[in-house]
Amino acid sequence: MRWILPSLYAVGWWALGVSSIAIPNVSTLTEGIKVDKRQLTSVPENSFPVKSTFVGTNGHWAKFFFPTDNGKLYMGTWTNTAPSVAYGYEELLPAGSVKTNTPIASTMWDLNVAIGSGLGWAHADKRARVYYLDSSDVIQELVYSGGTAGWTAGTIGALSIVTSGTNGINAISFKSNGVENVSIYYAEPSGAVKETTWTASGTPQWTTITIASSTSGAYSLSPITFVDTKTWSATAPSIRGFYGRANTILDVAWDTTWTNGNVAQPFIDSTGSTNGDYSFSASAWKVDAGTPIVHLFWCGDGAAAGTLGTVYRAPYNITARTLRASTAISFTQEPHSFIVTGAATNVATPPNGNHLFAWGNSTGTPAFWHYRLNGDSAQLALH
Ligand SMILES: *[C@@H]1O[C@H](CO)[C@@H](O)[C@H](O)[C@H]1NC(C)=O
Ligand SMILES: *[C@@H]1O[C@H](CO)[C@@H](O)[C@H](O)[C@H]1NC(C)=O
Ligand SMILES: *[C@@H]1O[C@H](CO)[C@@H](O)[C@H](O)[C@H]1NC(C)=O
Ligand SMILES: *[C@@H]1O[C@H](CO)[C@@H](O)[C@H](O)[C@H]1NC(C)=O
Repeated sequence: MRWILPSLYAVGWWALGVSSIAIPNVSTLTEGIKVDKRQLTSVPENSFPVKSTFVGTNGHWAKFFFPTDNGKLYMGTWTNTAPSVAYGYEELLPAGSVKTNTPIASTMWDLNVAIGSGLGWAHADKRARVYYLDSSDVIQELVYSGGTAGWTAGTIGALSIVTSGTNGINAISFKSNGVENVSIYYAEPSGAVKETTWTASGTPQWTTITIASSTSGAYSLSPITFVDTKTWSATAPSIRGFYGRANTILDVAWDTTWTNGNVAQPFIDSTGSTNGDYSFSASAWKVDAGTPIVHLFWCGDGAAAGTLGTVYRAPYNITARTLRASTAISFTQEPHSFIVTGAATNVATPPNGNHLFAWGNSTGTPAFWHYRLNGDSAQLALH
């Protein structure tokens, strides 16, 4: 049964607790990365960390998704409306819909725009998907179409895909053979990492394959983060993905088939682990300029993965499938238990349009933080 939530969209997110915050001072960190940081003071309810995000054209806006204590699903909107910055919140699903503190995945594209990004959120050709776990750890889906359609329930639930519930999930979208495709990445209870792909034609529309078997697959509490390094309408996607096994981040790649990469980056964040992981995240940008840049971000663990309270960012070589030297991003003294990143696709000058959501609890009051990484591309050796 499909059900519709047009009223929420019609009401609009402005009605649901908008704050307008002056742009804070940009702080220059010891490593020289300029960070535009602000606390999400107006999150509407007791909420778990931001679990997923995507960034609109040229980094002008971002959507982010998080569950609440009582199982609601919220979409937050950040809009760069200089000289003020606005946040809004929209309740997508009522209490009891989302299993407590489980992962969320999201992806977004534009139907008739070659690069798949450029339209405003309300445009009739805007498309998005959000994936979440229900109380039985089954993947469920919300489908967004712009114009008057708004949000409807998707069809993946009918597949009854049971996930591990504690591993991350992730989604990408691309055009292939002339139709829209969406791929979702998750771990089964066995630890096997799977890909389930939807295509906008044919029957059945969903197909599932194994990317990493249970012997080499994700272990409990591992994030799973995948990116497409090609523009949306490229002939075929070029996918890079990361998952965890035995306290190590491993990578896989798809060009014409899935193969293992060469990353073996330590990670584990003990604070994050008790809250559903998300201590590493990958983002890709400039995919439309022919020079895709993929970065892997992770939280320091106070041991092999780096200093606690520090986020690291390392460029990923999509050909050699290795990480280059990491850059430390000492935002604050808080242990950042969770990070989620998103990057605008068609941004001329990285790292503009690169957003980072983090969660910290150093003061005993858990808080979201939202960072937009600006400037200093030379120091970050992004090219
Ligand atoms: C920004 O920095 C200036 C100079 O340090 C300071 O005077 C001002 O109060 C700061 N503004 C905010 C909002 O922190
Ligand atoms: C995307 O969907 C099309 C149409 O069903 C299909 O031919 C193609 O193989 C899919 N692409 C990938 C990478 O799965
Ligand atoms: C990526 O690795 C390849 C070797 O596989 C190398 O030729 C290339 O220069 C590397 N790219 C960067 C940006 O370091
Ligand atoms: C935040 O920190 C306080 C003090 O250490 C602790 O009591 C509380 O459980 C923490 N909250 C979460 C959600 O981790």
